Amino acid sequence: MTIPFIEPFRIKVVEKVRMTTREERVAALRAAHYNLFAVRGEDVFIDLLTDSGTGAMSDEQWAGMMHGDESYAGAKSYYHFEQAIQNILGFPYVLPTHQGRAAEGMLFKSLVKAGQTVPNNRHFDTTMGNLQVLGANPVDIPVAESADSEVELPFKGNMDLEGLEALIKKTGVENIPLGMLTITNNSAAGQPVSMDNIRATAEIYHRYGIPFFIDACRFGENAWFIKLRDPKYKNTPVREIVREMFSYADGCTMSAKKDGMVNIGGFIAFRDPELKGQIGANLIVHEGFLTYGGLAGRDLEALAIGLNEVVDEDYLNYRESHTRYLGEVLSAAGMPVYKPTGGHAVYVDAGKAFPGIPKRQFPAVGLANALYITGGIRTVEIGSLMFEHADPETGELMLAPLELVRFAIPRRVYTRSHLDYIGEAAAECMKRPELVKGLRVTWAPKVLRHFMAQLEEIE
Ligand code: F0G
Repeated sequence: MTIPFIEPFRIKVVEKVRMTTREERVAALRAAHYNLFAVRGEDVFIDLLTDSGTGAMSDEQWAGMMHGDESYAGAKSYYHFEQAIQNILGFPYVLPTHQGRAAEGMLFKSLVKAGQTVPNNRHFDTTMGNLQVLGANPVDIPVAESADSEVELPFKGNMDLEGLEALIKKTGVENIPLGMLTITNNSAAGQPVSMDNIRATAEIYHRYGIPFFIDACRFGENAWFIKLRDPKYKNTPVREIVREMFSYADGCTMSAKKDGMVNIGGFIAFRDPELKGQIGANLIVHEGFLTYGGLAGRDLEALAIGLNEVVDEDYLNYRESHTRYLGEVLSAAGMPVYKPTGGHAVYVDAGKAFPGIPKRQFPAVGLANALYITGGIRTVEIGSLMFEHADPETGELMLAPLELVRFAIPRRVYTRSHLDYIGEAAAECMKRPELVKGLRVTWAPKVLRHFMAQLEEIE
């Protein structure tokens, strides 16, 4: 008997969630200036804002928390964490940080200067923000098919290799202090990157002498997709796939709040011992000493255990099929779901669902807000509110390629009936398009505006 979809765990602790009334949600959204980031967690019934730091830890991880060694320097928990990085990822050196964006910040502050360019298949918003505040240019070079939400291809998260080489030639290697690749490609609907593409990206960077860093947030999910979708890896254990993926890179940054299976944490791992000195100085000023980097010993202990849990194939099988199931539920509700479904989230093409709302009026924000009003479900826009930017050459305002709503699934938190309930609310929004309204920005900061923007509905 094969079991295609089942939680490989049982529930030991539960957390009560409260269903609000429609009137309460209308008031909460108005008070939040139509930005779901400003809504209180307790006013949300099912929270799919992010898969970051929102997962449930295992009994082993909670037990590990009690073993946390809180020594300022050289804590036992640090060495457990270092050993997990060495065994699972294969990098000899690691510096902990409090989360992923701090890892990016520390790495970029040490290596990147104003005016320089950093290529990536797609930068996530904080990665982009960390480069922009240094005056550097983040450049995205996704494969063209990543902007097509319909075409079913196995690795739509890939880097456009010809585009990468053309960018390097045009920019000049002296202006590219490092190159990146994000696995899975969060801004491109959580799509995986193939092993061939990781290898070829590394080959190009290295041919030009550019250090290659992976943004490793969802490396377990990426490895699982390689096993599922590349016949060469069908019989390869995930742990081996993970080792091979990282073997091509000089280092990585990671938000451990994703595939680290913890609520807080991050790190920078690398091969060059020189980097420890370079980044370490910044780390001590901004995060903490080299062996805790902004985390408690107990956090490092939970992370060491979490890194081992994410490469468990029963877990990854459940994770992928759980996410795919939500994709099926939303498709059945009539939503244009980005295909194929990614690892950590389902992305819905709101631009396609509501063609009457222009991109500049953020149809994905309109749909996310309607889902909240209808069912108390919190999702997030991954579209032009998040990604609109001025073209560095022409100054022209560039909108996002797609107006997506992301339904990000916290790890080991929601059951299949929660997913079915989301489907009901989604169907209601599709049947009553008048619930979905265009919006305009009334106030926003210059960088990372979507977190704090205030909006109003356009009647
Ligand atoms: N890189 C990627 C690909 C991410 O998805 C994130 C976070 C980060 C870096 C930054 O990590 O949050 O620990 O500082 N993504 C979350 C999300 C916030 O909702 O997708 P962090």
